[in-house]
Amino acid sequence: MSDLLVARTRAELDAALKDVRTGGGRVALVPTMGALHEGHASLMTVARDEVGPAGAVVASIFVNPLQFGPGEDLDRYPRTFEADLAMSRDRGVDIVFAPVVTEMYPDGEPTVTVDPGQDERSLEGRIRPGHFRGVLTVVAKLFGMVRPDVAVFGEKDYEQLIKIRQMVADLCMPVHVVGAPIVREADGLAMSSRNRYLEPDQRLAALALSRALHAGVEAQGRGPDAVAAAAFAVLREAGLEWDYVTVASPDLDGTPESGPARLLVAARLGSTRLIDNTAVHLGPDS
Ligand code: PAF
Repeated sequence: MSDLLVARTRAELDAALKDVRTGGGRVALVPTMGALHEGHASLMTVARDEVGPAGAVVASIFVNPLQFGPGEDLDRYPRTFEADLAMSRDRGVDIVFAPVVTEMYPDGEPTVTVDPGQDERSLEGRIRPGHFRGVLTVVAKLFGMVRPDVAVFGEKDYEQLIKIRQMVADLCMPVHVVGAPIVREADGLAMSSRNRYLEPDQRLAALALSRALHAGVEAQGRGPDAVAAAAFAVLREAGLEWDYVTVASPDLDGTPESGPARLLVAARLGSTRLIDNTAVHLGPDS
């Protein structure tokens, strides 16, 4: 495809994808809530690599009210549509799908939603009840509308990626989910649309998250407790209000004593909540 098309409705999206579909081209979807940064740009590049020049890359931009809890940042969530279009164009996106809320949820909050499983067993779900129900529901709807062959999500929201993979497997959705590595600022801060909320002193303090991950990786040879303790010590020393510091298996189902695992951290800086994670390899052979 050539120049960027903006589709506001499902009908416009179908029209924009018609030629690709009839020509047998593959479709890749990059779901976003806008406020795009280099992390999103990397997802667009992965999406293009997946479908090749004959395929279509669709980026959706939709701030999904269903995944925000009461008192969360729905109203102040950054909206930077013109800059998002410029970045999408720059990164070779073919179609930006940017529906309004009533296009996505014409009858208000949907009656049927996707149950992510027990929130109490989830890192983010425990702290943000209903969050993953909102995420999975909108992602399922986007899959139904775009019908992508491939969908690309960042590993920054690692638990989200795992939940989406689980949904696709459990509900037999015909889409290949690709996880893309976290993109970091030069000083280590994981890129996030929420970073723009940070005051300069908070921005500095936020570096403790990536330092904590680094400390965890350094301790990986000594097992999961040592990894968590090392990461926790960094957050405590930085005086960060933390939500969790956890070591889990790569599919977030239990904690292994050795082998591949994931270290995940979440902390608050004022009213801004940041999450970050890294792969670790536990045990003496690390
Ligand atoms: O990661 C995000 O930006 C959102 O959770 C997603 C996947 C676009 C669903 O609204």
